[in-house]
Amino acid sequence: MARIGIDLNRFILEEERQFPQATGSLSLALMSIENATKIISSRIRKAGLSDILGKIGKVNVQGEEVQKLDQLSNNWLIEHLSDSGEFYALASEEVDDAIFPEKGKNGKYVIALDPLDGSSNIDVNVNVGTIFSIYRKYCDGVENFFQEGYKQVAAGYVVYGSSTMLMYTTKNGTHGFTLDPSVGSYLLSHPYLKMPSRGKIYSINEGYSQRWDEPLKKYIDNLKSKNYSARYIGSMVADVHRTLLKGGIFAYPGDKKNPQGKLRLLYEAAPMSLLIEQAGGRATDGVNEILSIKATSLHQRTPVFMGSKEDIDELMDYMRG
Ligand code: AHG
Ligand code: MN
Ligand code: MN
Ligand code: MN
Repeated sequence: MARIGIDLNRFILEEERQFPQATGSLSLALMSIENATKIISSRIRKAGLSDILGKIGKVNVQGEEVQKLDQLSNNWLIEHLSDSGEFYALASEEVDDAIFPEKGKNGKYVIALDPLDGSSNIDVNVNVGTIFSIYRKYCDGVENFFQEGYKQVAAGYVVYGSSTMLMYTTKNGTHGFTLDPSVGSYLLSHPYLKMPSRGKIYSINEGYSQRWDEPLKKYIDNLKSKNYSARYIGSMVADVHRTLLKGGIFAYPGDKKNPQGKLRLLYEAAPMSLLIEQAGGRATDGVNEILSIKATSLHQRTPVFMGSKEDIDELMDYMRG
């Protein structure tokens, strides 16, 4: 049974030991993510001092202005994960095409990354994060990324908040670890996280409400009539983290201007949905469960509604009319 305070490496190894056929490869893969995110965390803590705030003056494949920390986090993760030899391929929100590391020719996994989530919050000292999603390699080439979300073997995120926390799942529950900077390790703080079946908070960018469809407008009006509170940080990692712990709903819908919304299926929607479902919640694009969607391109976007099971069930009643 999981003990509060045990360190992440030990937890990962004990979890893998339950599968006699396991080779240790997934454990090593997870540990390489752990190390890279510790470096990012330490750099973010010094962001204002070391000239890594601000933009680099380039636009990425998503059409967004790249921030210095977007690029640095991307580079650190790609270097670390490529060097681990565990990954046959990497895909990143910040890189146009998939990367096939020289050392990963025999790698058993592929990984999709949002190196730095919540870029617009970097310069104002508000929480940002890193998201990862791991699939088993089953063929040659980029097609390895085009699998349904339920086929992920592991997913997680790190939130660089008032403390740094890493949440992850290998489909044996969602577990949370808090980085103890004096020890230098992530220590288990939230084993087998179970989110409330209903919450009292909704989280959506209400500035776009004039572009929403009628069913969504009615649903949000109904939440207001029930005295739900509004909370929107604008970093998906932080907004989903709160939703996991407190319940309620996080949404980034499609609207009249952007029918597919903004969030990316591979780097954001699928991994967060796995964590939410493993904690007893539900995630949908408004029609289908997010985890049932098979990607057809690396950077594809999807509407996202995720949170407490009863909240999402109710939303679906509105969506179905
Ligand atoms: P990223 O910084 O990785 O590009 O992601 C930004 C995303 C996500 O973190 C957040 O939920 C959303 O953008 C906020 O977008 P709006 O400002 O349109 O609400
Ligand atoms: Mn971005
Ligand atoms: Mn993001
Ligand atoms: Mn990002």
